[in-house]
Amino acid sequence: MGPPEEEEEEVRARLARCGQSHLLRFWAELSPAQRGALLAAVPPGLGEHCRLAAAAGARACQGGPPERLDGRMEPLPARVLGSARRSGPAALEHWEAEGLHQISQNKVAVLLLAGGQGTRLGVSYPKGMYDVGLPSGKSLYQLQAERIRRVEQLAGQRHHCRCAVPWYIMTSEFTLGPTEEFFVEHDYFHLERANVVMFEQRMLPAVSFDGKAILEEKGKLAMAPDGNGGLYRALVDNKILEDMKQRGIQYVHVYCVDNILVKMADPVFIGFCVSKGADCGAKVVQKAYPTEPVGVVCSVDGVYQVVEYSEISPETAQQQGPDGALMYSTGNICNHFFTVEFLEMVAHEYEPQLRPHVAIKKVPYIDQEGNLVKPLKPNGIKLEKFVFDVFQFSKNFVAFEVVREEEFSPLKNAETADKDTAATARQALLAQHYRWALKAGARFLDEKGCRIPEKLSLSGAEDPPAVCEISPLVSYFGEGLEPYMKNKDFPSPFVLDESKMELVGNW
Ligand code: UD1
Repeated sequence: MGPPEEEEEEVRARLARCGQSHLLRFWAELSPAQRGALLAAVPPGLGEHCRLAAAAGARACQGGPPERLDGRMEPLPARVLGSARRSGPAALEHWEAEGLHQISQNKVAVLLLAGGQGTRLGVSYPKGMYDVGLPSGKSLYQLQAERIRRVEQLAGQRHHCRCAVPWYIMTSEFTLGPTEEFFVEHDYFHLERANVVMFEQRMLPAVSFDGKAILEEKGKLAMAPDGNGGLYRALVDNKILEDMKQRGIQYVHVYCVDNILVKMADPVFIGFCVSKGADCGAKVVQKAYPTEPVGVVCSVDGVYQVVEYSEISPETAQQQGPDGALMYSTGNICNHFFTVEFLEMVAHEYEPQLRPHVAIKKVPYIDQEGNLVKPLKPNGIKLEKFVFDVFQFSKNFVAFEVVREEEFSPLKNAETADKDTAATARQALLAQHYRWALKAGARFLDEKGCRIPEKLSLSGAEDPPAVCEISPLVSYFGEGLEPYMKNKDFPSPFVLDESKMELVGNW
């Protein structure tokens, strides 16, 4: 069935008014179903979107480097910056206890941003399905699911109750189908199905430099997800905030999909933010080197925000404080804390104020003769909102610095790159598990049965001398390993999973 005639006429006139009639160039060749799909895909406000994109694209191209914010930046004041690295055990235990308490009360949810296309990694499926080559073969999604189960268990054990941490997963047109299938195939990793809520963010048309929406097929607009800041509209579109309120959720840990070390609903981070009465928070790590491509959490004109690495000059990035440390060292790792109240306020009131960011990309298109062209140079403009652009609306913002080796190793690039690849992610996880095992008193033997010399100060960037993978179902942050590992010999490689732990009585 094609679209009703009046509707077709109306859309035709609307497209003509906003200079987008070229979208109907191949109309005569389209089937009724294709015609219907094309018309349905034309969003309201297309003309305005195209004008905005073209103007932003022109600014980005003419102005050389994007607007530099250097002169207006200030490092975060000490009063908003907590640190896991610099805090003593008593403070850390206090925050952890607070976080576990909130989790046990069913007040904490996690929300995964998983609508990105993962272009840099170069795979055609969602990044969360990626297997980085661990001995267990677990995907990023599986590691995350198991960490949720373990943290529920830790909170439940401490407070003698059963509790749940619902998992909200924001997907896009590209990632929803395969993500759903993957979860079904893996039986939702044994999470309760009702506690996994997938929803879709909006898509926006890609626009050419002369302000025209691009056709990627004769009857199909080239569309891209509206950025991870599309979250706030998606929360409303899909009634997610209502769902959270119905479940009694008050705090949400929002995170991005590609960090293999991500601590789901991290009790320490949640506890820190709750103890400070924060409505919005960000986890940061010390930047590894001045030009590391991570955003910097700082303040600009007195307002908290993330300045992306492209917006800061090399001189500012290298600036040092009196103690010789980098002035702007608070690297954003895309792990955020929000109260549901704050999310509601942003989603219902402030979202329209979020400024879109411009990405200039190569967008395959159909030329006037109807041939598919894969451009060699960027030809399209995509507009995206960023999840952290809401910090400016916070009434009590905090940042929390964590130890990179324990919490941050993102999978961004294909194997050919030298950093942030599957190999570096795998190495970081196995190095962490090796450190945990040594701390718990384990010893490792090589294939000849000889003791492998220990390496005590192991960074995340080197291979551990022995391979030991510990299931998140067994240990969330290195806890509970001694009964099984103390003074025992293990072969390398070794995978410690729950089946082995069941042999230990008091687990
Ligand atoms: C992101 C941060 C950057 C930080 C870095 C750390 C943003 C905008 N930037 O950069 O400051 O230093 O992580 O690793 O947050 N996504 C969606 N929908 C979209 C686009 C992206 O859900 O439309 C998701 C992705 O699936 C991913 C996350 O957002 O989980 C981050 O997106 P990505 O494009 O990978 O951001 P980075 O450039 O790596």
